Amino acid sequence: MTYKFIDLFAGIGGFRQGFEANECECIFSSEIDAHAKEMYFENFGELPYGDITKIDETIIPNHDILLAGFPCQPFSIAGEKKGFEDTRGTLFFDIARILKDKKPKVIVLENVKHFKNHDEGKTIRVILETLYELGYTTNWEVLNAKDFGVPQNRERTIIVGSLNGVKFDFKKLRKSPQVTISEILQEDGEFEYLDENEYTLIENPKKQPSGLIFCGYRNKNIRINGTRENTEHLSRVHKQPNRIYDSNGTHPTIASQESAGRYFVYHKDKARKLTIKECFRLMGFSDDFKMIGSKAKLYNRIGNSVVVPMIKEIAKEVKSQILENDSEARIAPNSLFDIKIENSNNMIAS
Ligand SMILES: C[S@@+](CC[C@H](N)C(=O)[O-])C[C@H]1O[C@@H](n2cnc3c(N)ncnc32)[C@H](O)[C@@H]1O
Repeated sequence: MTYKFIDLFAGIGGFRQGFEANECECIFSSEIDAHAKEMYFENFGELPYGDITKIDETIIPNHDILLAGFPCQPFSIAGEKKGFEDTRGTLFFDIARILKDKKPKVIVLENVKHFKNHDEGKTIRVILETLYELGYTTNWEVLNAKDFGVPQNRERTIIVGSLNGVKFDFKKLRKSPQVTISEILQEDGEFEYLDENEYTLIENPKKQPSGLIFCGYRNKNIRINGTRENTEHLSRVHKQPNRIYDSNGTHPTIASQESAGRYFVYHKDKARKLTIKECFRLMGFSDDFKMIGSKAKLYNRIGNSVVVPMIKEIAKEVKSQILENDSEARIAPNSLFDIKIENSNNMIAS
């Protein structure tokens, strides 16, 4: 069966690709950024609606799944818990009012790793309480892209909610063997190599549990004042754009703020910058995805996106665990108490 979804805060359609790969159909999208909309149009032949705060929920078609990787904002809670009303003035409120009107069977929300700590835990609490108030049974987990077949250490919070009382089981997501940066690098191309005098390699670089192998650093912009001798390279003052990672490991998070694309890898005895195509590969985008506009904008777009293979796996499980689950043995909907103390393996501040 084909399930219909809406793609909110759509960016360049990372969510869309993952759900379309599971035979789901996109029937509405919204995105405010002009460049992202242009890229979305180039790739999907559909121009997303604009600012979600200006869209009346009644014009949105009925759908089975609501997808949203929304910006994180604090709620200004005056005192008394008002749930849904507490979310007014934030972009989550726009998600909530659509849910209230359309009652999709499933919601999938994506946010940053530290979402559970945002505003001392208040943000996630208000969101989960609001979803509960709207009838959704929720579960959430922090997932890492490196477990889904891309060599990037990118942790993101995923919240899944269902209307039929099924608590999404994140443990059923199929993990893939780890791959290394070298497996996604382009064989040929115009590469921006660093001269040997522009960087320093460190001795015996170690693979970290995240899979990263920090193996060197660019010589410029290194502030060594106040650091112990021979530990300069380990100092926190080394900004991420100065770091060089071995291609036999994973890559750190591609960040939306890094418009200059200063991602350096050490591969076949040379240090070079990743190409924009390689950055898209690190997010699991295929090479036929059309890239338009300036490099700076493309770096912003890809850093804001979701990792497609991870979303694909979530979409598959959303279908089998929630949408195609007509067993009588569904567990009862969450109580508010459950939400606060037991979300997957995590605790949240209540
Ligand atoms: C974290 S990104 C999500 C990217 C998307 N998941 C993807 O795969 O590319 C958040 C997106 O929300 C968009 N956005 C922010 N405010 C918005 C608004 N009021 N209406 C619609 N989109 C908005 C931003 O432009 C940005 O592209």
